[in-house]
Amino acid sequence: MNKRSDETKGAAQREADSPLIQLQGLGKRYGGAAAQAWALQELNLELMKGEMTAIIGTSGSGKTTLLNILGGLDRGYEGGLIMGGRELKSLSDQELSMWRNQEVGFVFQHFHLLDHLSALDNVLLPACLTKGRARAALSGVEQRARELLAQVGLQDKIDVKPPQLSGGQKQRVAIARALLFKPSLLLCDEPTGSLDSHTGEEIIKLFQGLHAEGYTVLMITHEERVSEAAQRVIRLEDGRLVSDQSQVQRSEKHEELAL
Ligand SMILES: Nc1ncnc2c1ncn2[C@@H]1O[C@H](COP(=O)(O)OP(=O)(O)OP(=O)(O)O)[C@@H](O)[C@H]1O
Ligand SMILES: [Mg+2]
Repeated sequence: MNKRSDETKGAAQREADSPLIQLQGLGKRYGGAAAQAWALQELNLELMKGEMTAIIGTSGSGKTTLLNILGGLDRGYEGGLIMGGRELKSLSDQELSMWRNQEVGFVFQHFHLLDHLSALDNVLLPACLTKGRARAALSGVEQRARELLAQVGLQDKIDVKPPQLSGGQKQRVAIARALLFKPSLLLCDEPTGSLDSHTGEEIIKLFQGLHAEGYTVLMITHEERVSEAAQRVIRLEDGRLVSDQSQVQRSEKHEELAL
């Protein structure tokens, strides 16, 4: 291999190894600086490209607050959030909304679909919000939406509206919508929380397949079987990070307990 291709490989490797997002002493107080209670406090964390991470913690521990900040929905935080080498707060409103539209896919517990639109039109919604330069990315977008619906197993439901779909099918439409622009980050808040356990397992398998394709997935969950599917598990308690374990560390711990 010549020197130039070595250098190129080095750059690609460095990019793959660099964190997608870095949190530096991140804190959040609802009600501004005067508020006493911290929803998040002193979070230091790096999320790497291609990781599948679960965030767990009891109700009120700060999970949704963290997800909203990571997705650029809430910039009222203290400390630093660096993504792609830039502090999120330094982006203009337009840059931020373009980044969110193109780079972040959201999946919610209650799907957040529009009932009067077909499955296809729901998947195409992010394209309707695209402005300016990003419109160049829109050619072929309908074809991609159809392919995504086929990928999530809904090729025969393209023209069906959400009220005629099951919970699992609705969540599949929401996942297809989240994938429309091949986001750098998939953020999911209790994606199986409204589903029965069998349907929930199918949705988790779908996320595992996306992770295997290279997507970076971060999901909040209350369910142990969902967090077991993740490579990394981060636990929050009262707004603080109290543990951060990779799958290898977790299986070593299980082995220790079994001895
Ligand atoms: N809009 C808000 N205004 C004021 N306080 C809030 C607001 N949203 C959340 N909080 C508070 O911030 C803390 C963290 O809330 P958050 O919604 O992030 O918890 P959570 O871990 O997602 O809980 P759950 O598992 O119940 O969804 C809680 O004490 C909550 O009461
Ligand atoms: Mg929550």
